[in-house]
Amino acid sequence: MNAQDTTYVNNEAASRSGEQIDFSFGKNWLAYVSGLEERHITAAQRSFVESTGLTSLAGYSFLDAGCGSGLSSLVASRLNAEKVVSFDIDPSSVACTEQLRSRFARDASRWEVHTHSLLDRDLPLKIVPANIVCCWGVAHHTGSMWEAIDHVAGCVAEDGMLLLAIYNRTKHSGTWLTIKRIYNWAPAPIKKLLLLGFHTKTFTSLMLHGQNPRRFLQQYVKNRGMSYFRDVEDWLGGLPYEYASVDEVRSYLAPKGFDLIRINHAASHGCNEFVFQKLSAQGRR
Ligand SMILES: C[S@@+](CC[C@H](N)C(=O)[O-])C[C@H]1O[C@@H](n2cnc3c(N)ncnc32)[C@H](O)[C@@H]1O
Repeated sequence: MNAQDTTYVNNEAASRSGEQIDFSFGKNWLAYVSGLEERHITAAQRSFVESTGLTSLAGYSFLDAGCGSGLSSLVASRLNAEKVVSFDIDPSSVACTEQLRSRFARDASRWEVHTHSLLDRDLPLKIVPANIVCCWGVAHHTGSMWEAIDHVAGCVAEDGMLLLAIYNRTKHSGTWLTIKRIYNWAPAPIKKLLLLGFHTKTFTSLMLHGQNPRRFLQQYVKNRGMSYFRDVEDWLGGLPYEYASVDEVRSYLAPKGFDLIRINHAASHGCNEFVFQKLSAQGRR
């Protein structure tokens, strides 16, 4: 498949979930990386340091499972990770990550990018087990969330970290699933109308609360270097969609030896951001 091919559909996720998918995360990421600047990288690096408490990854290996744009991998590379391995199922996401590596990495020789599925039990990745495994906003889109979490957990070295972001379970979760199904079912002109409706709602609400929309967009980038417009397409289009409460995730990983050391709670139906540490066999006794 050509990386620019816009028709990519994650058929594995479609068959696992039974959903009708008409959205490519990678295509959305291609639009994002075309406008990526140093300020996005700085913001992503700041968010990473704040959420993990790590200011340097020297001596650590970093596995980015479902790398999307590749921005987390770039941050790991900039923080001097010993080795970075990124992979994604969507060829356009892989192309984005390769693009970021060639445009922005200071030492590309320690960074590999691959096309793989997280659900592939026999991932041919020499980096595993890795000191830090990042699976940010991915497992809930695979069509088999718990299996995906189980799999990334198995990629973490003893005393290593698992950075996980999973959609929060709220009373609105079912409504979001319906919205996403409608968006994926809709023909292109209707998709545009749905996006327009979402933006109108956002900006009207901002103005009614006395906020400046331009300032909102400028501030938005502080959130992991992300773009509001790209995130909205991701929220509307991102199927399959699963979710879990903080307790569900914590109690799933605890028996596997994972200790929750940091958490950034979702404000509402967004993602809970977990930092787990895998206890060594000694620490588990
Ligand atoms: C919402 S994006 C998150 C990207 C990135 N982790 C980040 O933090 O920005 C979800 C990514 O997961 C990828 N993905 C979905 N299912 C996958 C699978 N089974 N294996 C690998 N990647 C997958 C998608 O292609 C997409 O790039």
